[in-house]
Amino acid sequence: MKAKNWLYPAIAALPFSLGLGLSHAATKAEPRATQKAEQKTAIPTLTAAEFDHARQIYFERCAGCHGVLRKGATGKALTPDITRARGTEYLKTFIKYGSPAGMPNWGTSGDLTDQEVDLMARYIQLDPPTPPEFSLADIEKSRKDILPVAKRPTQKMNPYNLDNLFSVTLRDAGEVALIDGDSKQIINIVKTGYAVHISRMSASGRYLYVIGRDARLDLIDLWLPKPDIVAEVKIGMEARSVETSKYKGYEDKYAVAGSYWPPQYVIMEGDTLKPLKVVSTRGMTVDNEYHPEPRVASIVASHYHPEFVINAKETGKILMVNYWH
Ligand code: HEC
Repeated sequence: MKAKNWLYPAIAALPFSLGLGLSHAATKAEPRATQKAEQKTAIPTLTAAEFDHARQIYFERCAGCHGVLRKGATGKALTPDITRARGTEYLKTFIKYGSPAGMPNWGTSGDLTDQEVDLMARYIQLDPPTPPEFSLADIEKSRKDILPVAKRPTQKMNPYNLDNLFSVTLRDAGEVALIDGDSKQIINIVKTGYAVHISRMSASGRYLYVIGRDARLDLIDLWLPKPDIVAEVKIGMEARSVETSKYKGYEDKYAVAGSYWPPQYVIMEGDTLKPLKVVSTRGMTVDNEYHPEPRVASIVASHYHPEFVINAKETGKILMVNYWH
């Protein structure tokens, strides 16, 4: 995969960003203040292995609130201009203990070790690596036709009451448990993306779509003797939403998934997940400022029109997407 490509640029870019900012602002008349300011601007160095580990932790634990580019979302911006001024000690304390305003206490909760807290405090002082884009061709390349349409059943092959079926996210395991609501028995546990964000039923009730935070989308056929994954695709690096066409005549025909990174949504064939169209959400906010990372949040399908209602967070826009053609 391309994921490794965004490892080195930040390290390579490091020496060039030294010396900017605070150290210049300090005056000669205050030697102690100068020393303090310089201490804060000393940029930490990370080995390639540390960088890779930190990048993974940031993606799994921090990006959802602070943004992949660290420009801030639910959490504050964590760009180097801010984090270097804060200094390593402040950052370590904040990451370890959290804050009542919504920052989790990663250290005291036991989620991160002291070494990892220290690593993250240093990592967020480096320039954020820009993750790769994910084109229609990349999406198609990632697609797996696990059980092609022609080999799928033409009627329901199991006794389960699909109106009373639960898809339960097993977060860190990267799985969902399909549970029969009538008997409370587990029907199957299937391997999905990491920390599945939502499970959505298709209009007919035959298909179940589950999307992980890592943007892996799985299509589960509930008509199989033992419901299981029949198609899979990766739609980006980080995602939260999936929906399927619900208008009369378009039941199960299209699927749409929205990603946080890259900031875009993709429309796919409902039963194969073959990508048909990718649309970027980058652009102007409602206040007319450019935003490079407007994350796609919830997507809802209209039952009254051939439309998806797609919400883009940072631009503050609600998009009505017609799938008539
Ligand atoms: C659930 C959302 C959430 C997650 C996940 C999250 N943060 Fe935060 N973070 C916040 C919020 C909200 C604030 C602002 C809190 C405040 O001002 O008291 C914040 C503040 C911070 C600050 C202080 C910034 C400043 O300028 O004072 C740092 C550093 C930070 N987060 C690092 C991290 C790291 C590293 C991770 C991942 C290990 C992470 N955060 C994960 C919500 C989150």
